[in-house]
This record gives sequence, structure tokens and C-alpha cells, in this order.
Amino acid sequence: MRLETFLERAWGNYLKVTPDAEKIHSLLTARGERIINDHVAFRTFNLPGFSRADLHPIFINWGYRKMDEELTFVEKKLKASYYVHPDSSNPKMFVSELLVEECSTELQNWIGKVVANRKTSSSPISADLFLNRTWNPVNYEDYVRFLDESEYAAWTAAFGIQVNHFTVLVNRLSTFKSLEELNHFLIGNGLTLNAAGGLIKGQPSELLEQSSTQSRKVPIEFAGAQFHSVMGCYYEFARRYCVPGTQELFQGFLPKSADKIFESTYEKDSH
Ligand code: NI
Repeated sequence: MRLETFLERAWGNYLKVTPDAEKIHSLLTARGERIINDHVAFRTFNLPGFSRADLHPIFINWGYRKMDEELTFVEKKLKASYYVHPDSSNPKMFVSELLVEECSTELQNWIGKVVANRKTSSSPISADLFLNRTWNPVNYEDYVRFLDESEYAAWTAAFGIQVNHFTVLVNRLSTFKSLEELNHFLIGNGLTLNAAGGLIKGQPSELLEQSSTQSRKVPIEFAGAQFHSVMGCYYEFARRYCVPGTQELFQGFLPKSADKIFESTYEKDSH
């Protein structure tokens, strides 16, 4: 599958679980903006067949280059890496994975069962994995039970390895001078932003500022053809600054900021 086709289809899927994204797109295009994505992000488990290493060839086939840096989120038990495309109008790919072996035995057993119920049998793995539900619907009771130990695990079990968020590159917007101005505009239009660690994560001296919407509940299919409303995906905004002494925008990520951005899928009252 071509990268363009993938991004178009992934965006369609993403809108179904991120109602705010469509509204924001309309608000921005009404101002004449043309949106360029900074990155798209995926969540997965570090289990055979689904790990970051397993997904790696998909990005390489699209012409991406893996950056050497590896990000670690100790408290959330995650590792992440990212990929950059030679054509800067293509979004970076940010892939995180849960270190399953560091979780409780109960959670490990559950994730093992979820993954064994895989729907896709494609081997070697292909981009279809990101577009269709990766495994059969999980039990709602299990989702609720493990939400407190790892929101990341529960989300990934419920949604599969689909795109978790798209990210608007604020530098490429022409009618906003700053991320703060964009945030004000969004809030003024009734949107709720993730306030964990402040509305804006990161600062100009760190070369990256980010903000995001707060996920909203969307109905998802669970085992037994039951539908329950659970926290879906969020939309992110990134403003990058030039690496000192160069004309090049910083392409990396800030672990401290990303840590808070991960919490955009948290239910506000539960954490
Ligand atoms: Ni992100």
C-alpha cells in the first residue's frame, strides 16, 4: 500500500474515534489553512509479531529513515522510536510499545490472550495491520479492570494498532503566530485541551512546543457484540524551532512532554 493511500485511509478511521479532529479541520480550513502533519503516532506491545522491531519494515518500505534516538518512559513502561521521511511534507512516524514483561502477571496474561486473538494473519506484517482492528474485540470487564494499571495497555487492547493521533505542524499554519494563539482559538471554539502539565508542553529553548485535545468517549465494539463508550483518540499540535546555528527545524521529541501528552486519553476523573 502506498504511503498516501495509507495516510488517507488512516485519517478516515481516525475521524471515527476523534470527533474533535473533523471539527478542528473544518475550523482551520475555513481560515484558508492547508494542514501539514508533523507526525502520526502508533501504540503497540513488545510481543513477537507486533513489536516496534516487527513494524520497522513497513516504515522502511515507505522510504522512512529510523532515527537513532530511543525514548524511554519509565513510569508508563514504554519505549518509543521515530522515523523521518526525506519529503518533509510526509509526517514523521512515532511508534511506542508497552514493555509487557514489566507489567503485573495478570496484565501480561491478558495481553497475551488479546494478541493471540489476532485478526490479521499477514506475514510478513503489512500496513493493513494499522487500518483494521488488529485483534478480536476484548471483554469490556477486562478493559475496565486493567485501565488503572495501564491506560496504554487497555487502550491498545481495545483499539488495536491503529493511528493513536495525528499532529498538526503549527509552523506550516499561516494565520497563527504561535501555539498559544492556536490554543486560544480552539478553546474559544469550544474544544477541550489536555491540561496535564500545562496546556503547552515544552518550550522554545527545548526546540519543541506541543499541545493536544483531550480524548472524548466514543462507542467501541467489545466481545459479545457489546458496545461501550470509552476514551478514543486525540489531536495534537506541534510547533518546532530551528536547531541553533542551523536553518533546520528540530525533528526530535521531548520525553517529558510526550509523557504528559500520553495522558490525553486518560479520563480526567480517574487519574
Ligand atoms: Ni505525538
